[in-house]
Amino acid sequence: MSTAVSDHPNVARIIEIIGRQNPLQRKRISAFVSTQGSEYWEFAESLSRTLNERLLRSDESAQEAARSYNRMCMDFVNEQIRFKKTGRYSLDDAAVAHDEVYSRPDVMRYYMIGLLLSYMFWPNHYAMLRFLDEHLRTRAIAKYLEIAPGHGLFTARAVRRSPRLRGMLVDISPTALEVSRSILEAFEVDLSRLDVVRGDFLEVDLGETEFDFISMGEVLEHVNEADVLLARAARLLTPDGAIFMTTCANCPALDHVYHFHNVREIRELIAKAGLAIGAEMALPSEPFPEEVWERELVTINYCCILTPA
Ligand SMILES: C[S@@+](CC[C@H](N)C(=O)[O-])C[C@H]1O[C@@H](n2cnc3c(N)ncnc32)[C@H](O)[C@@H]1O
Repeated sequence: MSTAVSDHPNVARIIEIIGRQNPLQRKRISAFVSTQGSEYWEFAESLSRTLNERLLRSDESAQEAARSYNRMCMDFVNEQIRFKKTGRYSLDDAAVAHDEVYSRPDVMRYYMIGLLLSYMFWPNHYAMLRFLDEHLRTRAIAKYLEIAPGHGLFTARAVRRSPRLRGMLVDISPTALEVSRSILEAFEVDLSRLDVVRGDFLEVDLGETEFDFISMGEVLEHVNEADVLLARAARLLTPDGAIFMTTCANCPALDHVYHFHNVREIRELIAKAGLAIGAEMALPSEPFPEEVWERELVTINYCCILTPA
């Protein structure tokens, strides 16, 4: 059963500001949220309340967050249009993404704030966050690693379920780590429990530490050697540990390298890294049957729980 936006003042405030800046985004968000039930509203109102009370108190900061969301959505639309015409992403080397995105505070800030809000307003992103939440309910994490946290929301969810966890966040972008820190502080996460490391996950020295839970959302498509990255994550896992991984196929963005044309290629990479799929979900961004996803260049969001094979 759907619930009215007006019953949820914190979500309503954020949608209103986004919608005033961009009526098309208001329409898209309204179409999605109007189909959601109580679980969604509880999640969205609670996230929005934390954001409104801690980070978006002033009108200017709320306007900036809305601009970030709208700009990020437009970036994706523009990349998508180009991709549908050419069949190619606009970059083919992660080093360019580093120079043009990760190391630029202006770009990275709007991108990560926009991405954070997308977990509340994009159907596939919300579905993947729920998938993570469902898994987090089933385990108490002791040693946690997040590769490429970007905005920190996944770590905030993990700490909520396993408040005593210790761990590490590794991201190549100083701005992503700044945004992550501020989000984690907003959720009152004790940052002394987490080592925050700026660096390329493919190169950073992590010593001998093993982790019983690794979260790696949307990172494979950001590096040239996705197979090397996943194999490294697999080696850092305890024998009873699990990885929450998301990635995507046919998903152009400012900073994506084109690795995957279909879900089969993702599964092959997982097997090559010595990992087994415990659970998975593949979500098309357009309502096409699976057999035409690859031919029609349909963006597919993919998430899974992986364990040592
Ligand atoms: C799209 S964001 C993902 C954020 C979040 N994990 C999520 O799924 O919503 C991609 C993140 O990957 C980081 N990143 C890209 N290449 C990296 C690398 N080689 N090592 C560590 N982080 C990297 C970027 O700085 C950015 O924060």
